Amino acid sequence: MDTTTTTLSSSPLKRARKLRDEEEATKTSSVARIIDGRRMAKDIRAELKAEIETMARKPGLAVVLVGNRTDSATYVRMKKKAAAEVEIFSVDVTLPDSVTQEELLKAVKKLNEDPRVDGILVQLPLPKHIDEATVLKSIRVDKDVDGFSALNIGNLCLRGGDEPQALPCTPAGCMEMLRRTGVQTRGKRAVVIGRSNIVGMPVSQMLQQLDATVTVCHSKTLDMESIVRNADIVVAAVGRAEMVRGNWIKPGAVVIDVGINRKDDATRKRGYRLVGDVCFEEAKHVASAITPVPGGVGPMTIAMLIRNTVRLAKARTKREAA
Ligand SMILES: NC(=O)c1ccc[n+]([C@@H]2O[C@H](COP(=O)([O-])OP(=O)(O)OC[C@H]3O[C@@H](n4cnc5c(N)ncnc54)[C@H](OP(=O)(O)O)[C@@H]3O)[C@@H](O)[C@H]2O)c1
Repeated sequence: MDTTTTTLSSSPLKRARKLRDEEEATKTSSVARIIDGRRMAKDIRAELKAEIETMARKPGLAVVLVGNRTDSATYVRMKKKAAAEVEIFSVDVTLPDSVTQEELLKAVKKLNEDPRVDGILVQLPLPKHIDEATVLKSIRVDKDVDGFSALNIGNLCLRGGDEPQALPCTPAGCMEMLRRTGVQTRGKRAVVIGRSNIVGMPVSQMLQQLDATVTVCHSKTLDMESIVRNADIVVAAVGRAEMVRGNWIKPGAVVIDVGINRKDDATRKRGYRLVGDVCFEEAKHVASAITPVPGGVGPMTIAMLIRNTVRLAKARTKREAA
């Protein structure tokens, strides 16, 4: 703030008022720190690349894509690109929408037995006629690169359990963002909106492990606004475009927006733009730090997938050497 324009002739009272007005203006126009997930993910990929270069064997990642959903195809393409960049060996399995559950299970079994593969990722959602839980259960736990297996989730939730072999990527990405931003979690009030197996539930467990006091909101939660308003840390994983408004956010809170939603936008060539579950334009004036959408949690999810692949590969090498 520049106070040098204050004239020597003005009274102390006038000067004090001017100073106060300037401070107020700075406060209301202040913008949260934008947590740059793209840059953070790039740093992590560079760290992992250096780690991979020291390994005797390249880690291997298998990505299974079923059907022709454009969003799934885009995610898979981004994951494969990140894997290639760090020189991870990758196996692609692309199956048609009409694939039977039996055929898909057979493909997973083949990957379970493939010694070049350390991690298997089956891109969700799967077509309606396939039972997702059965397919996920068929992935060997030591190749469960998404960390979704009951054993990995169970160990994540247990106090004093074994260390999970892999942590779910999006929740791990959220925690890594908090860590790299220097956000204190101990004793803080955290609210997680959403309780899905892949995001909300593991995020709430991870925050609890970091000594935050965690409240989980979901579709049946009453008066969610007032719960969110008390939170020092808000993680939104709902799938509802801009549901969390700026006036729900406690001044100075840290906001991690996991949501990826399409919002109509006639100014864009494709007719829409991507927005989060939080109204970024409002929340950035209240929060102390916030993740953007896109460019926030998304790239971190992919970086965590690479990290999990490297960890599973290292664990296997260690097991085989024992
Ligand atoms: N950035 C990334 O890498 C990444 C990764 C995964 C997901 N995502 C995005 O994150 C969002 C959530 O994904 P998800 O897979 O967790 O979704 P999900 O499985 O559909 O779960 C949504 C959760 O939000 C709750 N919910 C729905 N409507 C609500 C409302 N009006 N008020 C409060 N809670 C409500 C649901 O409550 P109930 O349990 O009561 O139904 C559920 O727990 C989506 O936008 C998804 O695209 C992003």
